[in-house]
Formats: sequence, C-alpha cells, structure tokens
Amino acid sequence: MTQLLHLTSPLDAQLWATERRHEGSSIALAPTMGALHNGHAALMERAAELSDLTVVSIFVNPTQFDRSDDFEMYPRTLEDDLRLCESVGIDAVYMPTASAMYPAGFDTTIDPGALAKRWEGEHRVGHFAGVATVVTKLLTAVQPHVAVFGEKDFQQLAIIKHIVRDLGLPVDIIGIPTIREDDGLAMSSRNVRLTPEARADATSIKRGMDEAIGRSQHASDTSQIAEDVTSAITECGGTVEYVAVVDPNTLEPMMTVDRDAQLLVAAWFGGVRLIDNARIPVHS
Ligand code: PAJ
Repeated sequence: MTQLLHLTSPLDAQLWATERRHEGSSIALAPTMGALHNGHAALMERAAELSDLTVVSIFVNPTQFDRSDDFEMYPRTLEDDLRLCESVGIDAVYMPTASAMYPAGFDTTIDPGALAKRWEGEHRVGHFAGVATVVTKLLTAVQPHVAVFGEKDFQQLAIIKHIVRDLGLPVDIIGIPTIREDDGLAMSSRNVRLTPEARADATSIKRGMDEAIGRSQHASDTSQIAEDVTSAITECGGTVEYVAVVDPNTLEPMMTVDRDAQLLVAAWFGGVRLIDNARIPVHS
C-alpha cells in the first residue's frame, strides 16, 4: 500500500504537481465531496488506470449548495474516505479548507452558460456556477493531465467538458458509467439519508426508467416516456421535480426519439433529493 500524501492548500497542491510533472509523471484527478462510496471507487480506479499518479480531492464545496440545510446535512466521513483512498492505492488526497479555497474578498465566478440553464440549473439556482468555479480551481491546483467524472451527474459532466473546451484548459475530461446498488439505485452520498422505506421506494427511479425505455420505439413520443417514468415514481411515494428527454449533447428537450436521447430524472423521496439518468437508444 502506498503512503497517502495529504495536500491541504492550493499552493501545496501546485508545488507538488509542478514537481511531479517536471519528473515526467502523469497526474489524474478524481474530484469528490467525500462520503465516498463504490461509485467514487470506480472513478478512482479509472483515474489510476489513466495516469502514473492519482489524486482524489475531497472538498464539500459550499458555493454549489442551493440550500444551507443540504450543505449542513451533507454526510462527512473523512476517516473512512481516507481508508478507501489508501486501499485503492491513491497517491495524494487534496483536502483544502474552505478559507484556502475562498479567501476573504473572493469574488470571481465561472458562468457556465446555456448548458447550465435547464434541469439541475433551473431547480438549483447557482449550483453550476459553484461547480464550475470549484472544478476550475481544483484543476488549477492539481494540474492533472486527466480528470474523471461520473455520468451519474450527466449535466455536470457535459458542463465541465464544455468549460474545459471554452477556456482551453490543458486536461482531458473522462466520464465513467453510473455505478448502482444491486437493486438498481444509483450510488450517491445522499443515499445514507434515506429511511429504509424511502430507500426501497427510490428503486422506482431506475425501474421506471428501464420500463419506459423498454417500451420506447422508433420516434416514440418523449412526453409518453416522461409520463411513464413520473407515474412509476409517484406510485411509489416519490415526488418528481423533473423528468426530461434531451439531446445528450445540447441537453435541449427532444419531442420524439428519432436519435439517441438521454433521460434525466430528479425526484424527492422522504426529504432526500435524488438524480439519475439513462440513455434511450434510437430503434431502427
Ligand atoms: P460528488 O457528488 O462527491 O461526486 C464526485 C464524482 O463522483 C462526480 O464526478 C460524480 O458524478 C461521481 N459519482 C457519484 N456517484 C456516482 C456513481 N454512482 N457512479 C459513478 N460516478 C459517480 O459531483 C461532485 O461531487 C461535485 O459536484 C464536484 C464535481 C466534486 C465539485 O464539487
């Protein structure tokens, strides 16, 4: 097992990364907010495959939370997180303090543009500006050649790819498929906040998506798909925030499935907000 290095400020991370790059090592970054689960482990393993050195960042970023209760109740399990990083063979953990990330007078925000306007952006105002700014800062500090993100947060991944392209950041953005529990629920740090009953009901998201996708045919009406998913969730006691069928690149709504589409879902179960998504392949 390698010794896990702790980097605690942007300067620390920059000095470490600059030296490693001068030595000729490639660096991969897996950004997280901690409360690590097997989805994060898959992210870290992919990052490790892609580089000589792997860094995991753990920072519960206050600026991306639209509700203070969600920030306060966000699970924090640092000791377990560090153990997981060690067992996966991570080289360094970057854990900046909030004051190191946002010193007094901090006043610059990255506005991620049109991709961030709908869906999560509409329901969690300011969320993606917070994500865009913190991810840019993490990339600047750790200077990775590659950074790995989950398709679980489909819109987030699309926005980050777009920012990197627009700003010309020298990093490859790689996506990994969503890791799920055995019953289909997408792994999420927020799942621990579900009561046993809500946890069971929440399986209706994936089940509803699978059934609706299974029924879809060439040029299916997307409003029917959205209605089917909504019913599956509502029947199990969930409250739908949005169900959308979108173009996987632009995230704009599609009327019919006449090409590959992406199904996006956000729903509440017992006071916990969950998101998930799935590809709807076009039928020939
Ligand atoms: P967090 O929710 O901790 O997720 C960190 C990374 O793990 C993200 O790229 C997310 O998409 C991925 N991930 C989460 N659950 C997953 C699952 N079940 N399968 C595969 N990947 C999964 O997303 C964030 O943190 C933050 O917004 C962050 C990018 C770190 C910026 O603060």
